Amino acid sequence: MRDGQARAIHLQDYRAPDFRVERVALDVDLYEDHAIVRATLAMQRSGAADAPCRLDGVGLTLEQLQLDGADWPSTHYHYDGEVLTLEGVPDRFVLATVVRLAPQLNTELEGLYRSNGMFCTQCEAEGFRRITFYPDRPDVLSRFVTTVRADAVRYPVLLSNGNPIAQGEEGGRHWVTWEDPFPKPSYLFALVAGDLSCQEDRYVTGSGREVALRLYAEPQDLDKLDHAMASLKASMLWDEQAYGREYDLDIYMIVAVSHFNMGAMENKGLNIFNTSCVLAHPKTTTDAGFQRVESVIAHEYFHNWSGNRVTCRDWFQLSLKEGFTVFRDQCFSADMNSAAVKRIEDVDMLRAHQFPEDQGPMAHPVRPQSYQKIDNFYTLTIYEKGAEIVRMLHTLLGADDFRRGSDLYFERFDGQAVTTDDFVACMAEVSGRDLAQFKRWYSQAGTPQVTVSGELEGGRYRLSVHQQTPPTPGQPDKQPLLIPLRLALLDGAGHHLPLNAQGDTELLLELTEPQQQWEFALPPGVERVVPSLLRGFSAPVMLAGEDSEAALRHLLTHDDDGFCRWDAAQRLYRAAILRLVDATGRAAEEAAQLAPAMKAVLAGAGEDAAAAALLLALPSATQLADSLPEFDIAAVQQAHDALAAALGHALATDWWQVLERWAPVGEYQPVAADIGARALYQQAASYLAATAQPEIGDVMVRRFAEADNMTDQLGALRLLVHERLQGADAALADFARQWQHEPLVMDQWFGVQASAPWQTAAGIEALLEDARFDWATPNRVRSVLGQFSNANAVAFHRADGSGYRLFASALQRLDQLNPQMAARLAGACGRLGRLPAVQQHALREALQQLVRQPLSGNLDEVLTRILA
Ligand code: ARG
Ligand code: ZN
Repeated sequence: MRDGQARAIHLQDYRAPDFRVERVALDVDLYEDHAIVRATLAMQRSGAADAPCRLDGVGLTLEQLQLDGADWPSTHYHYDGEVLTLEGVPDRFVLATVVRLAPQLNTELEGLYRSNGMFCTQCEAEGFRRITFYPDRPDVLSRFVTTVRADAVRYPVLLSNGNPIAQGEEGGRHWVTWEDPFPKPSYLFALVAGDLSCQEDRYVTGSGREVALRLYAEPQDLDKLDHAMASLKASMLWDEQAYGREYDLDIYMIVAVSHFNMGAMENKGLNIFNTSCVLAHPKTTTDAGFQRVESVIAHEYFHNWSGNRVTCRDWFQLSLKEGFTVFRDQCFSADMNSAAVKRIEDVDMLRAHQFPEDQGPMAHPVRPQSYQKIDNFYTLTIYEKGAEIVRMLHTLLGADDFRRGSDLYFERFDGQAVTTDDFVACMAEVSGRDLAQFKRWYSQAGTPQVTVSGELEGGRYRLSVHQQTPPTPGQPDKQPLLIPLRLALLDGAGHHLPLNAQGDTELLLELTEPQQQWEFALPPGVERVVPSLLRGFSAPVMLAGEDSEAALRHLLTHDDDGFCRWDAAQRLYRAAILRLVDATGRAAEEAAQLAPAMKAVLAGAGEDAAAAALLLALPSATQLADSLPEFDIAAVQQAHDALAAALGHALATDWWQVLERWAPVGEYQPVAADIGARALYQQAASYLAATAQPEIGDVMVRRFAEADNMTDQLGALRLLVHERLQGADAALADFARQWQHEPLVMDQWFGVQASAPWQTAAGIEALLEDARFDWATPNRVRSVLGQFSNANAVAFHRADGSGYRLFASALQRLDQLNPQMAARLAGACGRLGRLPAVQQHALREALQQLVRQPLSGNLDEVLTRILA
């Protein structure tokens, strides 16, 4: 390891801070080759009388240190490169430090760094300590006044949190002082300096306060901010209506930066966004991109209450703000678009990515017990499973009590740093429910498996349910969880049966025991019952049952729950593909079996094209391979593609009809109906492309050339390239020529190639060596290495091990520049233990060789877990 001894931090070791910071004044002086940070902290002892004052500080060059205006003798302090310890300090004092930084050399993108021509910061989780000495922990809240100084011509825009209160200019340099009236933890600090263009608008809150909305980007991107602005206003209104939460400052600023490790950051009043999550224009952004911007804008805005006004006591509580805020942004997107489609997309994402995490070496509870590098815990489990936990509370309590619980939470803990226990306690208090068992969802890792069987006998339907959570690293024994199971029963004609004396046709069952039964009295004459279970995906569990294909077809045809219908289709496709894997089925016959149900979906597509597109999509080969004891992606992919081709042939006429009926008309708009139409078109085209018939190649070449928007253009390019249709190479070349000056579009160009199923290690290497590739730009790195390792299992896991060797050497190189990114990408190797022997051997060897190199603590932690 490169950065010293690995040290685990444990939740049980939490102690309140010994010192608080009453006020902080920062003065940041920015130059081309260095920066000087002067910090003045008003410190007050809050712990033991003899405790030394410990301040975090990583890689800082200390130039001056004064206590109450006088130099503090060097015998009284000690700096070991990570912590500055001051001995013998009084109970109250003013600490003044001057440190020197080199932001131009910061490739880790943590703390203060440069992106293109600007300066910006990323402090969550522990980046502030790379800017100045400070108790860099979320439970120390303080009021900040920040002065930013820089060259007036190069950096006309100088920003920090809160409101500007003073400014001046002198000798070609200028400065602006910002004051943030709200006490905040250091992870919410931000500053920006650059030559930025601004789109400005305003929003009047429900109580009549006017807020200036300012979105900043580099000048060439000024035309890509409309969608973010509209999304921001919609988010502000939604949070007032859905949660009664208003914005609290006079200015809300968002800055787009090209170099960013994550999606975006909710710094108080000054969000900093990855360009990919804020810029949107029909010509350069896909439908998925538009929706991502909408949801990330909402997510960061909602953090102003769930995260900033009420924050986390320590980083073990990360899901307190992230799980809750993801739940909030999911509900917002559901309200803005189609709720059923949004739910299916979220569940699909959870099952495709969080479930494997929860079953692999990186499995951890939503509230972890320990970690080495907190950056490694910004995971799908913290975010997405955390959101599912909040959703279950909403389901169990009902909308009204949930809202009363969240009101209580925001009122009681405003301005405080709290825990997930505090959050659940509010929900328990307003509802009068005992949520002790429910809280195991926070402390227990792993995906629960729920097995169901039903029996119809003597006019009664008996449902037996069994739950079990498999062991995860460090947690061999699991306890039963409280699992909300939403249920309906359909009869043979597809009608909902009454489930109780009141005639309810949907019930919420609460599974609390390892094994439980429920009985329902049926109306006379009922001869067939098909259960519709886990409606709306009411709990993040794996559901297994003895569902016959007839029952699944019944649900696909009749169920009125969007998730259950889609899941029934997924199960039907899955069964067919698995029969092809073990050679008990034939593709043409399977396709013929599936065809009538798919035709029925197409016949009803007019009502909701987006839902139809989802119902017609096969589960990915990766997801299917994940559900098998051995991750044999090559075999599953072959079966998957064979079924796709057979369906392409079996329903050829229908697919061609879709292409005619749902061809683009009118101006591009990122609205639900049009997005659905484009998705359905793409789905039909992909079935035809799977047959590799030349006609579909011609149509795609034309669509590529004529497209007036990125969704259609990229959709065509993807099919041409992935299916190696005639014209693919020319299209790739055209695309690169057309979009050479749009980095986000060029990311797509790299991504399409890196995710092509025919891709080889040599091909990936060529992409990495392309002059347009850049190791220092996370978006570009993700578009090649992320796509290859995470979205191209068949190429990544090639039996010769070439993909692994290439990936390991790329990780080593990346780790020198950006440890957070390297560690995140390495997670793709988490399937190690489930690979076929040949692959397992090759991957283990590649990773063992890698872990012997001097690595960052971030990458070391992930690899050590995977290899354990
Ligand atoms: N709080 C941010 C969000 O979810 C994520 C930032 C995390 N950054 C990091 N380097 N770990 O919106
Ligand atoms: Zn967040």
